[in-house]
Amino acid sequence: IVGTNEHDQEAIDELIASLPITKGLVRPAHRLYQNFWCPITMLPNVIAFRRHFKAKDKDTVLVSQPKSGTTWLKALAFSVINRSRFNISNTPLLTSNPHEVVPFIEHKLWPDLDGLADPRVFATHIPYPSLPESIKQSDCRIIYICRNPLDTVVSSWHFLVETARSEDQLDWSLEEHFETFCQGQLFFGPFWDHITRYWKESLERPRKVLFLKYEDLKEDIGGQLKKVAEFVGLPFTEEEEEGGVIEEIANLCSLKTLKDLEVNKSGKLLGRIVEKRSFFRKGEVGDWVNHLTPSMVDRLNSIIQEKMRPFGLEF
Ligand code: A3P
Repeated sequence: IVGTNEHDQEAIDELIASLPITKGLVRPAHRLYQNFWCPITMLPNVIAFRRHFKAKDKDTVLVSQPKSGTTWLKALAFSVINRSRFNISNTPLLTSNPHEVVPFIEHKLWPDLDGLADPRVFATHIPYPSLPESIKQSDCRIIYICRNPLDTVVSSWHFLVETARSEDQLDWSLEEHFETFCQGQLFFGPFWDHITRYWKESLERPRKVLFLKYEDLKEDIGGQLKKVAEFVGLPFTEEEEEGGVIEEIANLCSLKTLKDLEVNKSGKLLGRIVEKRSFFRKGEVGDWVNHLTPSMVDRLNSIIQEKMRPFGLEF
């Protein structure tokens, strides 16, 4: 880790080893760090990022829990923010996966960020309280995307099963995965804390945090793209609207277009663990009906009711 000497590294290793760890089969194991469950593979980078990262006022930070629409948001936000540099015929999204164009802090270490052209766009799954202070205090903007937890748990199960298969590990059941999710011990969870905290922040500081829902993007991509453009200070001009720029971006970033691009059909990402194509599955709202039992649905709905509805969040 850059900026970390051997002594620091030892201290970080010791700290990580002392943190509570998940039990059960779900891999990677997660450790409880600053009240959230972090995949152990990402924890050293998360800690380094917190300690050393310096945000710039013009940065845009995309935040999500895994399987909430991160890939889509990366493609959309990058296209909106960089539309004076790239159009749909020369955008890097045609030749690189959205996760290569907009890096994750906790996967790719931040020295790479220095190579990003201004205005920088990058992503993280880190919960609000654990973001580096410079992100909270600078004028950089945060765009958060959330998704109905019923669909997120199904999507994340497919994703992990696929990843495990490509790593030649044992599959695990949806039941076990669901249980871990409901206990909040998965992917930077508890999911309810992750979502409600960014939601609160978006209400208190609407110019700092834009809160989006996957379902709203599915329903009205044009309206949501306008929201993003205004939020980042680059509203679409009348000319652009009449010229069909919004539709062009929506089409370029659609699941179908991205999934069919040669660059997204093969190859691996994120430390060569994950197949690029596994980021593009069905992209449907309500796919949970095909996978969750009525008692699973009741259980998750009661968690949503108890932990999220008091904040005014509905799915
Ligand atoms: P499903 O598994 O329900 O199909 P993330 O990008 O956060 O990893 O989330 C992945 C989910 O978003 C998957 O959902 C995937 O199919 C969907 N997705 C990926 N790219 C998309 C796009 N361009 N438009 C809509 N959904 C997309």
